[in-house]
Amino acid sequence: MAQINDNYLKLQAGYLFPEIGRRVNAFCEANPDANVIRLGIGDVTEPLPSAIVTAMHAAVDDLAAHDTFHGYGPEQGYAFLREPIAGEYQARRVNVDADEIFISDGSKCDTGNILDIFGPDNTVAVTDPVYPVYVDTNVMAGRTGAADEAGRYAGLVYLPVTAENNFVPALPEGKVDLIYLCYPNNPTGTVATREALQQWVDYAKANDSILLFDSAYEAYITEPDIPHSIYEIDGAREVAIEFRSFSKNAGFTGVRCAYTVVPKDLVGRTASGETQSIHALWNRRQSTKFNGASYVVQRGAAAACSEEGQEQIRSLVDFYLTNASLLRDGLDSVGITTYGGVNAPYVWLKTPGGASSWDYFDELLGKAHLVGTPGSGFGASGEGYFRLSAFNSRANIDEAVARLKKTL
Ligand SMILES: Cc1ncc(COP(=O)(O)O)c(C=O)c1O
Repeated sequence: MAQINDNYLKLQAGYLFPEIGRRVNAFCEANPDANVIRLGIGDVTEPLPSAIVTAMHAAVDDLAAHDTFHGYGPEQGYAFLREPIAGEYQARRVNVDADEIFISDGSKCDTGNILDIFGPDNTVAVTDPVYPVYVDTNVMAGRTGAADEAGRYAGLVYLPVTAENNFVPALPEGKVDLIYLCYPNNPTGTVATREALQQWVDYAKANDSILLFDSAYEAYITEPDIPHSIYEIDGAREVAIEFRSFSKNAGFTGVRCAYTVVPKDLVGRTASGETQSIHALWNRRQSTKFNGASYVVQRGAAAACSEEGQEQIRSLVDFYLTNASLLRDGLDSVGITTYGGVNAPYVWLKTPGGASSWDYFDELLGKAHLVGTPGSGFGASGEGYFRLSAFNSRANIDEAVARLKKTL
């Protein structure tokens, strides 16, 4: 009998979303007339911008003729997409070359797959609360022990992010090799200042660590002083990998396109202590295990980088940000403390009266027929917090705010 990867058995059953589903279903069965509004999901709701749709239609036509047909493409992505992305970095005076950009089918996959090129004995730090993919992929890779009752895995370093530290984790006390940072943050919707990020880059340089910087929500940054890329920080090219996605700006959650920046300055060390280019390893990994994102999709993504596409994306992002601001104002007006939602499509709120995240979930569902995500589902330090997503229609957001005002 073939042996399985036993690390998978350490994974806790996907508890959060199934449990939400179970409670919502039970409520709907008991209250068949209730119009339940779901503000729990991190998926976009609006259709693709027209510049992207037009480009993808044209790309399908390319595939229909001999002289414009495309088969296997470069595993790293087409130059027609890598170059404008590099141009966007350079427009912000950030030094990233097109051949340091690896196009993929998602940041979820990339943040998990990147672990292929790192040794099993690295120590790993994650924030708490956290986007669960970072944790689970490390469990699968065998870098943790079992989970305790609070859901924390032995061997991982958890860095609490709460209102007390303004949602920026304190530097670890000891040496950590790989550190996941996500800004703008899912689930808290908060951002990190230039100074805070500089501290992390300095820490990474001093400790030979690598930062895995997820900026899937970069397009949502509205405040002028907040860095859009980790590479805006001095020294980051030597210590950071950056993940970006077209999912939340261009609405590509179903289309699938993202990219990972691996600077050529970044090195790791071999078992025998020599330095090794991380860029070369990732290139090797992708060439072997990945066939590239589809031609049609990359044409769509390239249109997202065009002037027309950028304008359309801006209005899409503004639409969700206005939703976030309506949610925040509504919650503020009933005396609930909120965080985030200014540079991110998520509003993170402190549950009133010290209620547990799940008790607040039940209260919001029972009284206002609204569904959100309990903060404790993203990690033990999320207890007492709650996430509302701004990805929804305006009509639903308006109705949700009216109910918040009426019922809470
Ligand atoms: C922090 C974060 N990173 C990455 C992703 C996944 O992005 P993609 O759709 O490109 O896989 C998400 C999606 O919700 C996310 O919240």
